[in-house]
Amino acid sequence: SKEKIALFTIFGGTGDLAQRKLYPSLFKLYQKGYLQDHFAVIGTARRPWTDEHYHQVVADALASLHADADQVTAFASHFYYQSHDVTDVQHYITLKRLSEKLDAQYELQGNRIFYLAMAPNFFGTIARHLKSEHILTENGFNRVIIEKPFGHDFESAKTLNDELAETFDENQIYRIDHYLGKEMIQNIAAIRFGNNIWESLWNNRYISNVQITLSEKLGVEERAVYYDNSGALRDMVQNHIMQILSLLTMDQPVEFTEDDINIEKVKALRSLRPYQPEEVAKNFVRGQYAPTETVKGYRQEDKISPASNTDTFVAGKVMIDNYRWSGVPFYIRTGKRLADKFTRIDIVFKRPVINIFNHELPDNQAADNGLAPNVLTINVEPTEGFELRMNAKNVGQGFATTPVQLNFDHDATAAANSPEAYERLLHDILNGDATNFTHWQEVAYSWKFIDVIQQYWDDHQPSFPNYKPGTMGPQAAADLLAQDGHRWVYQG
Ligand code: BG6
Repeated sequence: SKEKIALFTIFGGTGDLAQRKLYPSLFKLYQKGYLQDHFAVIGTARRPWTDEHYHQVVADALASLHADADQVTAFASHFYYQSHDVTDVQHYITLKRLSEKLDAQYELQGNRIFYLAMAPNFFGTIARHLKSEHILTENGFNRVIIEKPFGHDFESAKTLNDELAETFDENQIYRIDHYLGKEMIQNIAAIRFGNNIWESLWNNRYISNVQITLSEKLGVEERAVYYDNSGALRDMVQNHIMQILSLLTMDQPVEFTEDDINIEKVKALRSLRPYQPEEVAKNFVRGQYAPTETVKGYRQEDKISPASNTDTFVAGKVMIDNYRWSGVPFYIRTGKRLADKFTRIDIVFKRPVINIFNHELPDNQAADNGLAPNVLTINVEPTEGFELRMNAKNVGQGFATTPVQLNFDHDATAAANSPEAYERLLHDILNGDATNFTHWQEVAYSWKFIDVIQQYWDDHQPSFPNYKPGTMGPQAAADLLAQDGHRWVYQG
């Protein structure tokens, strides 16, 4: 049977993430039969809720799914609420009792999943108590899920990791990066290692540059306090973009397994060329959105200081010093209040070295000889698919060429059936498969790269705000590519 058996304990069970992502994802796993009779969920947080109230919260979280009411009630009956102060030993004793009771009642075989969906400064305390109060079992599996942010810089990430390591082995720790649960991010490995044409060309002999764009239309919304201490570099680049970069640049894993992929990703991240502080300004651009008549500027948002220097936009050039990638710039950018909400990756190939079709050009061997570069675009969202730009002959007389576009998109049914990132990742955790999670070494190398940039920025005042909402960021982000003779494929 495909049924998975486990007790989930969610720290932060009243929170936004639990309601927006976790409960709907668990419900979908229930609808698909991965969770049936043998599962239970303990939600903990400080508020004093009753089980009845908790069931209502869970049911409300599913409202947008328009599911059968009886099915929702049956699902919600597996949920138990326990008010919990994570620093109070007494509460862990109560938690242990409840866990054992549910384990017996639902025949959970000692399988436990602990989901830490709350402020990271408590992760260490929680882990320590889970061990000291014997909430971890001997007879089943114990897995812990850590939400981002995993640290604030390398030092704090290491402290957090050391604390977790006192209780859990690396293979019991699942660090969530929800981008790794996205269909098209998982597709990177499939297209690279499943197609001779791509893997043969996937190097500095054929690729001119690579562009990764994670664009958001919304502003900072409700997360001002967290975001203002973080900024776009920490919020999006250290984790999501570095993970995407490692998947794009890693060598072929010996087998498509967690361990082999991890080895290759770590090799790629270790090959990042670290910047010296004095190189940061030339290679990384930061931005913050300005007010318009209709939209608040970042500094006018609720709970943000009017003098805040937090970056809401980053663009950067990343170089990888290895045989495959030496000389190929990877341009990355992400920001809030940009032109649109989308994620895309553009692989820009080198142009044909000569244009035999147009002898009129002053220099048909020049960098821009009238033949557009081939571009392979991976559309991650909202469209899921691929585009390939190539040059073809204009219809009719003569031999003028023009770029044409080959497109493949997942059809609506496939896209609708594609599980949401959290559903996919929870399923992986139930299966004990950490392929699509971030491993410690990856986190460590990403932070080391990011820390230099952040430090330089902290030491130098920006002139903010510097970009208009609805654009693709400050002019400097375009100049960054122009200085190398390149331009963003997506201009906005
Ligand atoms: C999160 C960031 O990790 O990713 C948010 O903290 C951001 O600031 C979000 O909005 C974007 O995720 P998605 O899946 O909507 O692209």
